[in-house]
Amino acid sequence: MSSQLFYANLLLFFYLSCCHFALSQTENSSLPLKAVNLGNWFVIEGWMKPSLFDGITNKDLLDGTQVQFMSTKLQKYLCAEHGGGSIVVANRTKASGWETFRLWRVNETAFNFRVSSKQFVRLTNQDEGNALLADSDSPSDMETFEILRNDDDPNRVRIRAPNGQFLQAISETVVLANYQGSSWDDSDPSVFKMNVLTGTIIRGEYQITNGYGPDKAPKIMRDHWNTYITEEDFNFMSENGLNGVRIPVGWWIAQDPTPPKPFVGGALEVLDNAFTWAEKHGIKVIVDLHAAPGSQNGKPHSASRDGYLEWGDSYISDTVAAIDFLAERYASSPSLIAIELMNEPQGVNLESLKSYYQAGYNAVRKHSSSAYVIMSNPLDRDSKVLLSFAGAFSNVVIDVHYYNLFSDRFSNMNVQQNIDFVKKQRASDLSTLTTSNGPLIFVGEWSGDWKVQKASKKDHQKFMQVQVEVYSRARFGWAYWAYKCDSNFWSIKWLIENNHVKLN
Ligand SMILES: *[C@@H]1O[C@H](CO)[C@@H](O)[C@H](O)[C@H]1NC(C)=O
Ligand SMILES: *[C@@H]1O[C@H](CO)[C@@H](O)[C@H](O)[C@H]1NC(C)=O
Ligand SMILES: *[C@@H]1O[C@H](CO)[C@@H](O)[C@H](O)[C@H]1NC(C)=O
Repeated sequence: MSSQLFYANLLLFFYLSCCHFALSQTENSSLPLKAVNLGNWFVIEGWMKPSLFDGITNKDLLDGTQVQFMSTKLQKYLCAEHGGGSIVVANRTKASGWETFRLWRVNETAFNFRVSSKQFVRLTNQDEGNALLADSDSPSDMETFEILRNDDDPNRVRIRAPNGQFLQAISETVVLANYQGSSWDDSDPSVFKMNVLTGTIIRGEYQITNGYGPDKAPKIMRDHWNTYITEEDFNFMSENGLNGVRIPVGWWIAQDPTPPKPFVGGALEVLDNAFTWAEKHGIKVIVDLHAAPGSQNGKPHSASRDGYLEWGDSYISDTVAAIDFLAERYASSPSLIAIELMNEPQGVNLESLKSYYQAGYNAVRKHSSSAYVIMSNPLDRDSKVLLSFAGAFSNVVIDVHYYNLFSDRFSNMNVQQNIDFVKKQRASDLSTLTTSNGPLIFVGEWSGDWKVQKASKKDHQKFMQVQVEVYSRARFGWAYWAYKCDSNFWSIKWLIENNHVKLN
């Protein structure tokens, strides 16, 4: 070989290896991620650890809980006529929408009552006869009522109005706050039977912080943040084949240490710790804005106060501000791999969502050119709805969530049908989403829970295995829901320790 050719080859060799190096840089060596969601850490989800709520007085009367009141004397329900904007009467034999009140908790015994028009019940002035009108848009003193429960039967109640007097159903059409008696007899016009619609109880961040109230919540939350996930857990993850975490946070963390009430400060320094531990143990971090201001889906996990979805155009700038804050704070960490702009929007206007995703993307890019920007696919839309929109950005990812749950189609599936569904349907969904120069796809949530009643451990191992296999085809990877949970199949820590899944 001539020396010329030798040098040409040498050059070619360097050229190739350097290009190969550049390629693997763009392809990022930690992708596809094998990650886990640190759910119920900075955004509380009561179902994952119900005991967190045990110390709350009147813990069945949380923000958003729906209640109905029947006058024991008249045997009729209180009703906000027309669902709101009008008087409150006591003439209904059955209770449904207009007879249902959503609680906004003021303290452990005092509440505002939100009716179906989203207005609040208020006490009118004395010269208006101490009547009740359900026509207020923002609650304050005149909208605050105390629920006093009977010691022997907590669902026998009397309701004290802001004038200090009790509500009484004088007749079916006359309900006034002008009663001073104290009898608990069923014939007393101030006694009501309260139905707490237990299926409507929301147990999220708003409920836990407001439920404990400003004196107790800070310690409860700080103890939780400091013990639920620790450095030991990051060590466990890296030793067991996980290389990433998706960390749900709420919008209020951007205002730490003094977030608006009832939220509690102190989470930000714990999130800082998470980055330190991640760097030390070689774990990539996705910061996921799980709870946007106003709530993007009305679910407890978006920190909704009362189950209504309020997020929309008027919330975009506050939501972008939270992203801007997080991107600025963590852009320089070598562990930051991505910022997720919003989790599981459901029922929001698609154009508003796109304007927000555009603005959120720009906010991340102000601080980082390399961090991926993750856009969650709206739950109520086709999984391809954002594909072409997202294709216009660089280093962008679409997040889809795959559960063999939450739909009737899974109710009667047996073990093999569940496995085949993942192998065929999920695999084909993923491949239709995957394009050569479009966004990367991320299965940002999935779980080993299923509707199969009597499955063996071996069956469950297969179900875990097939999901790992198929979801690893997503080019950005996957994140299990969750790391820890009282319910074992939702805890990857439990599943690894009990040999239901092996990742390395
Ligand atoms: C790959 O990940 C590392 C660590 O998060 C990051 O520093 C780097 O910029 C990433 N590369 C790309 C192209 O995103
Ligand atoms: C209840 O009372 C209101 C106010 O008088 C009246 O408009 C309504 O028709 C009554 N409804 C029933 C079911 O009696
Ligand atoms: C709760 O609020 C009501 C109404 O404002 C007030 O009368 C009561 O003293 C408060 N209770 C507690 C425990 O703060």
